[in-house]
Amino acid sequence: MARISVFGIGYVGVVSAACLARDGHQVIAVDVDPGKIKAINDGLSPIVENGLDALIAEVVAAGRLTATNDVQHAIDNTEASFICVGTPSAPDGSVGLTYVEGVCRNIGTALSRKAAFHSVVIRSTIVPGSCEGTCIPSLESASGKKAGRDFGVGYYPEFLRESTAIEDYYDPGLIVFGAMDQATGQFLTALNEGLNCKIHVVDLRTAEMVKYTSNTWRAVKVTFANEIGNIAKSCGLDGQTVMEILCSDDKVAMSKYFMRPGFAFGGSCLPKDVRALRQLAASKGTPAHLLNAVVEANEAQIQRAEAMVEASGASKVGFVGISFKPGTDDLRESPLAELAARLIAKGVEVGIYDPYVYEAYASNNSTAGRGNDVIPDLKDRMVENLDHLIGSAGAILVGNFYKDTVSTLAKAAETTPVLDLTRMKRDLVSGGQYQGICW
Ligand SMILES: NC(=O)c1ccc[n+]([C@@H]2O[C@H](COP(=O)([O-])OP(=O)(O)OC[C@H]3O[C@@H](n4cnc5c(N)ncnc54)[C@H](O)[C@@H]3O)[C@@H](O)[C@H]2O)c1
Repeated sequence: MARISVFGIGYVGVVSAACLARDGHQVIAVDVDPGKIKAINDGLSPIVENGLDALIAEVVAAGRLTATNDVQHAIDNTEASFICVGTPSAPDGSVGLTYVEGVCRNIGTALSRKAAFHSVVIRSTIVPGSCEGTCIPSLESASGKKAGRDFGVGYYPEFLRESTAIEDYYDPGLIVFGAMDQATGQFLTALNEGLNCKIHVVDLRTAEMVKYTSNTWRAVKVTFANEIGNIAKSCGLDGQTVMEILCSDDKVAMSKYFMRPGFAFGGSCLPKDVRALRQLAASKGTPAHLLNAVVEANEAQIQRAEAMVEASGASKVGFVGISFKPGTDDLRESPLAELAARLIAKGVEVGIYDPYVYEAYASNNSTAGRGNDVIPDLKDRMVENLDHLIGSAGAILVGNFYKDTVSTLAKAAETTPVLDLTRMKRDLVSGGQYQGICW
């Protein structure tokens, strides 16, 4: 069992401190608020949270949880510290790092007087780069020591929900952390072992970003459900019933199927249906802010790809994929066709490899080229052979994923700019001739 100090006895800190103590760890809670310190030392919860009163009474009585404002005492008597202070919005909406920075300085000062190795683990919600840009410099300057060598640093975000915080602590939906050093990484791994949840060990910035992605995703879901509810009500329908039915679809609607960063959505359904729902809402006088933003953001993703092509400087671009998704020749509202049309209009020479669309033309299929109303000479631009496309292009744009093209395209990226909107190989990241749209 470890000895752990928890800085900040707010909603996160107090639950963590109590649960760590229940797990058998020796915990010292640190805060600047004398009321909270007294409450804990009296065996009382400083916040209202299901089950917390009893838990604090139990662990304080057992002598495994104490509270203090004495930072040096806490650092000297523990091997690791969790920072759980608040990060309220700054006036311009950016993350407020004043408390985190302050507590890092306090801990750093105490570390300057401690010889033994100590891990500092930030749990507060902080934007990517905050550990490296604010926490570590504060700790280093106050301690006169080097992070990752003389003391450990980790970022381990908390995902608990108030009102079910203790339950969430023991049954988390997500565990992710980054650590600068092996000792801190091992400490956090050991702490989470035994929980029925995969442990994701990543770099500090990725862990910071996952926390914001999680909270923003929750916010988007709430807003989406509310907007659907508002539109449904304006049509005389029960939005909660509609959403309950939608949420029963684990296979597509609630799956990770559409949760992969890449290119714009398109096809015969999504664009027209988002437009139609937006118009329906407008006709009822119901605002549809999120639907408006969806249309706007999707258009911006096409512009982003256009900018990638422009940045490559290529005057001849070979498209791999032109249909709205791989495995079909359907071109209706394909964002790739739209992108190609915009480039053609700017004078870029565009050649296209798409086995499904090619096959439709080659077999004189009456529906060949179906849905394309943006590239008049599409058939003439189709190329049967991928090597020919690569050989004649100044840049390759990978729009659709075709398994049997991957090794050829990856090799091409060694000599030719490859602009990837689909991520043909999971381990590829932007660099050299290769550019991924969101990786
Ligand atoms: N509340 C939640 O449900 C939740 C869930 C996950 C993550 N978070 C994140 O965790 C962090 C803490 O949130 P919270 O709701 O627990 O905050 P909170 O405001 O309830 O508690 C913060 C505590 O830190 C103390 N503090 C401030 N400066 C200090 C210092 N120098 N030394 C010691 N203590 C100090 C304050 O007195 C306060 O008790 C935030 O970054 C928040 O975004 C919150």
